[in-house]
Amino acid sequence: MNINRKPIFAANWKMNKGASETEDFIKSFLSKIQGQNFAAEIVIAPPFVSLPKLADLLHSAATGQNAHAIQIAAQNCSQYDSGAYTGEISVLMLREFFVHYVILGHSERRSIFGETDAVINAKMKKAREANLKPIFCIGETLAERESGKLESVLRTQITEGLSGLTEKDMAETVIAYEPVWAIGTGVTATSQQAQDAHAFVRSVIAEIYGADTAGRIRIQYGGSVKPGNAAELMACPDIDGALIGGAALEPQSFFEIIANGCAE
Ligand code: 13P
Repeated sequence: MNINRKPIFAANWKMNKGASETEDFIKSFLSKIQGQNFAAEIVIAPPFVSLPKLADLLHSAATGQNAHAIQIAAQNCSQYDSGAYTGEISVLMLREFFVHYVILGHSERRSIFGETDAVINAKMKKAREANLKPIFCIGETLAERESGKLESVLRTQITEGLSGLTEKDMAETVIAYEPVWAIGTGVTATSQQAQDAHAFVRSVIAEIYGADTAGRIRIQYGGSVKPGNAAELMACPDIDGALIGGAALEPQSFFEIIANGCAE
């Protein structure tokens, strides 16, 4: 963590929690964070169908006692504006539900749904056109790491995924480094492995966009983040928050990750 970059803790619920479970989570979570003044941004990415409920709950909370800035993220968006794209959701539809962030390039989108760097790049551009802030995910598989390809994989994902995006776009972009082998496995990267990868990612951003942009961009770590490892990870100078899957499904453990991470 670096005091010049506000850490960002984002819950990626993946395909979990419809509207009623979203309501249960938010009521409990808001009661936990009430009165806390975390020096961090908190983001929740529910499934699309739970966005209206989340927007309603946070909007009414913001005018009441539980006021606290929780930002809403989508887990994906279409690279197209509108039309005959069955099953897709456009960036303008997301804007109607106070969505400010959108997760793009997640390894599950890449490996299960076949999203290429080119598709992810088109989505990044579409998100920025609508003034959404991308949480741009990158990461290597275990086989890639073990065969010494970590840096080349990350470099390709960065250069192709961000192709054509400007420094101004980068000011509104968050990068999430998520080693695929650490996602949902209970195996976390060691803080040294994570720090080394983050420093490398920041150096590639510096090559493309210059030192100022690289110094400002926030890079989250994702992959089996838990209350017990958050503080050590967040102590690393190039780690600026976390993108959390399983442990963000329970209000208490999401809360503890933020509290422990911020205590650092
Ligand atoms: P887990 O925290 O469940 O490992 O998931 C990480 C992730 O993929 C967040 O996007």
